[in-house]
Amino acid sequence: MKPTIEQISRHVDQTITLGCWLANKRSSGKIAFLQLRDGTGFIQGIVVKSDVGEELFQKAKGLTQESSMYVEGVVKTDERSPSGFELQVTGLEIIHEAVDYPITPKEHGTEFLMDHRHLWMRSKKQHAILRIRNEIIRATYAFFDKEGFVKIDPPILTGNSAEGTTNLFHTKYFDENAYLSQSGQLYLEAAAMAFNRVFSFGPTFRAEKSKTRRHLIEFWMIEPEMAFTDHEESLQIQEQYVSHIAKSVIDHCPLELEALDRDITKLQQIQAPFPRLTYDEAIVFLRGQGFDIAWGEDLGAPHETAIAESYDKPVFITHYPLGIKSFYMKPDPENPEVALCADLIAPEGYGEIIGGSQRIDDFELLEQRFEEHGLSEDAYRWYLELRQYGSVPHSGFGLGLERTVAWMSGIEHVRETIPFPRLLNRLYP
Ligand code: 4AD
Ligand code: MG
Repeated sequence: MKPTIEQISRHVDQTITLGCWLANKRSSGKIAFLQLRDGTGFIQGIVVKSDVGEELFQKAKGLTQESSMYVEGVVKTDERSPSGFELQVTGLEIIHEAVDYPITPKEHGTEFLMDHRHLWMRSKKQHAILRIRNEIIRATYAFFDKEGFVKIDPPILTGNSAEGTTNLFHTKYFDENAYLSQSGQLYLEAAAMAFNRVFSFGPTFRAEKSKTRRHLIEFWMIEPEMAFTDHEESLQIQEQYVSHIAKSVIDHCPLELEALDRDITKLQQIQAPFPRLTYDEAIVFLRGQGFDIAWGEDLGAPHETAIAESYDKPVFITHYPLGIKSFYMKPDPENPEVALCADLIAPEGYGEIIGGSQRIDDFELLEQRFEEHGLSEDAYRWYLELRQYGSVPHSGFGLGLERTVAWMSGIEHVRETIPFPRLLNRLYP
């Protein structure tokens, strides 16, 4: 196979041929600097007129942004370049000439860029963000594989709702009503009883009418579920997992973090254990900060940000009132008004990254919850059955990938963390 820019260190002082696009260029009368990208990275190609001759020099000088080509050249080390290498161009074959590429190096508005997402993802920052996304996915598989978890794929089309009925995405399933999955959790609980420790990674859907920097309509979730695991053990897995992700991004994405101007010292602080405070303590703290919040109210983004600002690590908020959490959460035996649950709040204003809990393992209590929440027992019969045949204490959680990517990348909005975001007013491209 032809070498890529990412593999270029293996080819120092060799002549290689690179399939690539022109990201940018500048030139004088005697020398042209080509910013080349091949999707794996960026490298500068140097074309010296006195070396290559008039014809090739003019061809290089006339290249337009995003034209595709094969470039032949000698790989040289170059300490000034971020990648550490440059290419002394000896040959150039244009594959396709791009005319009037819409995304120029100047500033463009967000809507324009989002309309051109199919092209925008080629640009340096967008490329870096999506590479960080890829690294987090890679690190996730590595972490859970090492810990002995089995990857399980829950269905996307479902008749069950795990996270309330207000933001369900309705669809038809032939003659039946169905939804797009809000969470794979209920299925993962079944799988945990078959495989002990499982995790899923897949798209989830919430028809949220909220237009915020943290909400997508379609987002991807990593959902581990563990048999014989209580709330406290689940928190430990969560902090180890998140620390592992941060370390992997620091270790494997130095160029991407640099392209994004990310303050790496902030990421280096993400090391287990993470601080914890109970919901009750959070309410006391927030009132002290001047928030008017009653016990039993859910925490919103401003509350989460105020709490997170006191820490340079993610912080767990635990033991929320049952009334503001999902039906499946196990009440705390020491205080049945609150759940054995936690949200993990990221620092720097990135908000809730993880929601998790210990699950109800008692058949009668779960049956009672279905009644209280007005959920049809028929549709959840199979889920109830898990509590009839060898029920065990079990816990799990869901990490929102896009919020995690935004946080690691240090960017403002989740819309840039997924290749093709689905937003309130956006189904295209
Ligand atoms: O807190 P949530 O709703 O938890 C669940 O769905 C559980 N069933 C997970 C589990 O225990 N297996 O969602 C989990 C995470 C949130 O913490 C957040 O990071 C992300 O998913 N999330 C969203 N991300 C982007 N856009 C949205 N609309 C999101 N809603 C939730
Ligand atoms: Mg939540």
